[in-house]
Amino acid sequence: MLTGKKIIIGITASIAAYKIPFVIRLLKKAGAEVQIIMTPSAVDFVTPLTLATLTERPVLIDFFDKKDGAWSSHIELGIWADLLLIAPVSANTLAKMATGVADNLLLTTVLSARCPVLFAPAMDLDMYKHPTTKASVDRLLSFGYKQIKPVEGELASGLMGCGRMEEPENILQVIEGIFTEQLSFTGKKVLITAGPTHEAIDPVRYIGNHSSGKMGYEIAKAMVNQGADVVLVSGPTSLNIPDSKIELLKVTSASEMHRACMTVYPEADITIMAAAVADFSPANVVSNKLKKEKGFKTIDVVPTIDILADLGKNKSDKQILVGFALETDNEKQNALKKLNNKNLDIIVLNSMTDKGAGFGYDTNKVTIITKNGDELIFGLKPKYEVAQDILTVIKKVSK
Ligand code: CTP
Repeated sequence: MLTGKKIIIGITASIAAYKIPFVIRLLKKAGAEVQIIMTPSAVDFVTPLTLATLTERPVLIDFFDKKDGAWSSHIELGIWADLLLIAPVSANTLAKMATGVADNLLLTTVLSARCPVLFAPAMDLDMYKHPTTKASVDRLLSFGYKQIKPVEGELASGLMGCGRMEEPENILQVIEGIFTEQLSFTGKKVLITAGPTHEAIDPVRYIGNHSSGKMGYEIAKAMVNQGADVVLVSGPTSLNIPDSKIELLKVTSASEMHRACMTVYPEADITIMAAAVADFSPANVVSNKLKKEKGFKTIDVVPTIDILADLGKNKSDKQILVGFALETDNEKQNALKKLNNKNLDIIVLNSMTDKGAGFGYDTNKVTIITKNGDELIFGLKPKYEVAQDILTVIKKVSK
C-alpha cells in the first residue's frame, strides 16, 4: 500500500519519541521510504543513531552538516515528501507551526511542504487543554493539516488524562487512510464555483452580498488534495488560489459566471455550486457614474439566470451536481425544494441562524441531504473539514 511513498517524520522533544522507531519499522515494512528530521532538543529523547539505522538514511537536524558543511535543503525536502508527519509534536512546535516561526530545519520544512501534513501531539493533559494549544491546533486544522489526536491514558508526568501520542499501529492506519483518500477523485474533472457575484449599477457601484468565497475555495483545495482536476469559477474575493494545480476562472457578474460554468460543465464529472450568486441585477447599467446631486430613488432590477437550475436541466446520468442552500427559516423544507426543483444529487444546507456558520467565518455548520433521502447533520467545523465531509458524501452518492 505504501510502496515507494516518501514520508518525512519530524520528531520534537517529547517522551513519546520512543514510539517513533516502531512507526518507522511499520512504514518500512509497508514499503515506504522514511526520512527523519529532528528538532535540536529531540535528540535527548531518542538517538539519531537508532533512527538512522532503521530508516537507512542520515537523520537531519541542522541546516548545515557540521562535519562536511553540506546544506540540508528544506525546499528539496518539502518537494520530495509525499507526506509529512510531525510526531510527537510538542506544544512549543505546535505554536511555532501555527504562527509560521521557522527557526529550525523541521519548521522550515513544514513551511515548504507541498504534501499533506499530519501532526500527532504528545504532552501533559493540562498543556493539551490550554487555550493556546487549542488555538494552535485549530489554526493548523484550518490550513488543511490533519491531527492524529492524542488519547487518554497515563502520561509521562504520572498524571492520567488526554495527551498520550497514538500507538504506532494506529498512526500507520491514519497514514494509509490518507493515501487511499488521496486517490478518491483522481481522473475526475470537477467544476466548483465560489464567492459572490457583483451586479453593476454604474461603473463604481454594484449589488452584491457578503460571501467571502472561503467555502468554495476550501472545497477546491480538498478536491485537488484528493487528486481531482479542478476548475474554480470565482466571483470577486480577496482570497489567494489555494493550490497552483487549480484552474482559476475569475468572473464578476452572474451572467459571466453562467457563461464560464456552461463552457466547463459538459466535461465536468462533478459540479459544486458554492457561489452566492446574486438573484437580481440592475435592469440597466448606467455607463457614467451616477451623480448624487441628481439623486435616484429606485433601482429597477431583473432576475439573474439561476445557474444551478440550468446545470440541473442539462445534467447527464453520469454527472453529479451539488448545490448549496442558505436559509433563515423553514430550512430543511426549502433545501429539499431546491434539491428537487434544480435536479440536484446533493444539497448542502447552511443555516444563517447558526453561530460561527455562513458568510465570512472560517467555520461552518452544515446539513447535507442527498436525493436518496439521506440526511447528515454535522457540527461546527473549520471549512476545510466541512469540505472533506462534502467530498465523503459525493463519494457515497457516486458509487
Ligand atoms: N444559485 C445559482 N444561480 C442563482 C442563484 C443561486 O446557481 N442565480 C445557486 C447557488 O449557488 C446555490 C443554490 O443555487 O448553490 C441555492 O442558492 P440560494 O441563494 O440558497 O437559493 P436561491 O435558489 O437563490 O433561492 P432563494 O434566494 O429564494 O432562497
